[in-house]
Amino acid sequence: MEHYDFDQVIDRSGTNAVKLEQMREQFGRSDLLGMWVADMDFATPPFVLEALRCRLSHPILGYSVVPDEFWPTVARWIQEHHGWKVETDWMRYVPGIVKGIGMAVNVFTSAGDKVIVQPPVYHPFRLVPEGNRRQVVWNPLRRCEDGTYEMDFDQLERVWDERCKLFILSNPHNPAGICWDADTLRRLAHFCAERNMVVVSDEIHCDMALFGCRHTPFASVSDEAARQSITFQAPSKTFNMAGLVSSYCVVPKDELRQNFFGWLAANEFDYPPTLPIVGTLAAYREGEEWRRQMVHYIQQNVEFVEAFCAQRLPALVRPLRPQASFLVWLDCRGLQLSHAALVDLFVNHARLALNDGEMFGPGGEGFMRLNVGVPRSVLQTAMQRVESAIRHVGILK
Ligand SMILES: Cc1ncc(COP(=O)(O)O)c(C=O)c1O
Repeated sequence: MEHYDFDQVIDRSGTNAVKLEQMREQFGRSDLLGMWVADMDFATPPFVLEALRCRLSHPILGYSVVPDEFWPTVARWIQEHHGWKVETDWMRYVPGIVKGIGMAVNVFTSAGDKVIVQPPVYHPFRLVPEGNRRQVVWNPLRRCEDGTYEMDFDQLERVWDERCKLFILSNPHNPAGICWDADTLRRLAHFCAERNMVVVSDEIHCDMALFGCRHTPFASVSDEAARQSITFQAPSKTFNMAGLVSSYCVVPKDELRQNFFGWLAANEFDYPPTLPIVGTLAAYREGEEWRRQMVHYIQQNVEFVEAFCAQRLPALVRPLRPQASFLVWLDCRGLQLSHAALVDLFVNHARLALNDGEMFGPGGEGFMRLNVGVPRSVLQTAMQRVESAIRHVGILK
């Protein structure tokens, strides 16, 4: 069995990486360790790169079709990993999940309609509807004693009105890394079905469940869920190939499907470029062992952060253990800093680029999101910098 090396530190400069190239614009300086944008600093798997190289060895990059084996391969991956049996004609390519959400917003709502999201949550869930002149309705998650989160159904009843046409779900949840359980999803499906709200389930992190947790596809929990929903998935996060743009949607029920797929086809948004097809096939055919080793490495990184915070920063920085993804939600409220001072601590003292919690909406204040999809040595440096910075500003003696 091949052993993959996640310890290797790879210089990404000169590759137009967002994490590096947009650092100055985002943080005001470019000398930070980049632990923000949600891609990993590991090499994309060798079998994906090899498949791309092989295709690129042919001198013509003309229009291409989706090969017959493509959708059955995707369907098999979903069935084997999540126990969800999907038909191949329920699926279509989409040119990115955020773009797919924008498409769903345009197809299923009109200007002035409302879209419900549950902060703290991945910020494009707010930006995309607002950019399309829809109103965003917050249904903030409820924080539990143990630091995890649950959906607040009483509040959901209160914030809903007849203009609410769409619900955007992060499953597993970014930034808190929650794998929502089937009962919660069923309850949500029932709520939305009764009010005829379409649910967009963004499942981009679904293949990265950690510590024995399991991902539950929203559409798989009940007939109501299948009837009401559009699911987005992709190999992009798991196999670190976000730049290939390899996402797809799954829509089990006829009515929604005709609507959505008709619109995608009319605009040719479902027509995939050549390379994502090649990359996705390689990832889903050959990727299981790599995925397992990567998940194992990420778990060890999470454990490293937990141990570091418990020993060196007790009561100051508390990481929430993610059930999925390579993102760790750090509760920094123990530092008792204002938002500006917290950002200043991380950026100007620790020299780290993390996403600050406020970006994710209400409930994110005092939190930071740390990307641990990095070699362990980089993570060690980052955590040591956090400790030194806290000492430097005099909070830790
Ligand atoms: C929850 C979630 N959805 C979507 C995306 C982006 O997906 P895409 O690049 O396919 O638009 C991200 C990336 O961070 C994400 O975390």
